[in-house]
Amino acid sequence: MKTLVTDDVAAAAALLRAGELVAFPTETVYGLGARADDADAVARIFAAKGRPADNPVIVHAAERAALDGVVAAWPAAAEALAALWPAPLTLVVPRAAGVPDVVTAGRDTVGVRVPDHARARTLLAAAGVPIAAPSANVSGRPSATRAEDVLADLDGRVACVLRDVPGARVGLESTVVDTTSDPPCILRPGALTLATLRARVGRLVARPPDGDVAAAARSPGTRHPHYAPRARVQLVDAPAPARDTAWLGLTRPPPGYGHVVITADVAAYAAALYATFRDVDAAGLAKIHCERVPEDGLGVALMDRLRRAAAAQT
Ligand code: TXA
Ligand code: MG
Repeated sequence: MKTLVTDDVAAAAALLRAGELVAFPTETVYGLGARADDADAVARIFAAKGRPADNPVIVHAAERAALDGVVAAWPAAAEALAALWPAPLTLVVPRAAGVPDVVTAGRDTVGVRVPDHARARTLLAAAGVPIAAPSANVSGRPSATRAEDVLADLDGRVACVLRDVPGARVGLESTVVDTTSDPPCILRPGALTLATLRARVGRLVARPPDGDVAAAARSPGTRHPHYAPRARVQLVDAPAPARDTAWLGLTRPPPGYGHVVITADVAAYAAALYATFRDVDAAGLAKIHCERVPEDGLGVALMDRLRRAAAAQT
């Protein structure tokens, strides 16, 4: 299959409607979309990514109202949090009967999201049906934040890659909140922080309660290896330059690193993370030293991804 790389949103939407796979930008990471009401199309997402069948995919729409057909009921916490949309926020809610099993990996819940990205919402509105979309990377690889990163993983395996437009980007995957648990809990930290969510739902907890044996089952994605480049990721407090090693952080290291990325703040660090992982792999470096950041606000999500990337290889 020849992959079309385009700025033509209408053409991308027509391909989605026809049951083809289309990678599209969002404010978090690129999604690999297919119409959520087409089980065969969604199955081809899993094949293209090499994604384990037990990991459900998020359903996206331009507006909350367009999700009513996939959601059986909106729990109180979901009602309160949906007011934050469009946002880097995924709500796990009871699924409607018509949602294909392949979307939810057979669960009785579905993850839904309205992204805060103008081009993504134009595409979703033009598609006219909810769109199932995991991150647009080969399973186990870092998420893709640039069209060229999508192509590096999926060229020839998807019908279309929609180019991005300039704008502020989070660069880390959405916050995932289970609104069906009691209390509601964060399954995956992201740019929408605990404080922001708690202002809407006071009982919300930062993670599934300790000892909750159902928690791992509710958070299937966290069981699979994620986010890691081929280069070995090491979390460091102080630099130790080496030619075969890259540096990514907030402060300037002493000379001697093979590749250096210095970011102005935690938001810029998060936005640069996956692109840097991929650039370091393309440069053939053996290691990447990532500076730790304080674990508050967006720093919680950034440290979560850094730890997973470091743990995936040890
Ligand atoms: O920012 C994002 O969320 C991006 C963009 C494209 O929207 N998507 C994304 O998708 O990161 P993916 O498939 O890479 O991660 C989705 C996460 C996985 O950890 C998955 O297990 C979880 O959401 N998830 C999806 N549906 C779920 C459900 N019904 N119950 C529990 N977890 C669910
Ligand atoms: Mg992913």
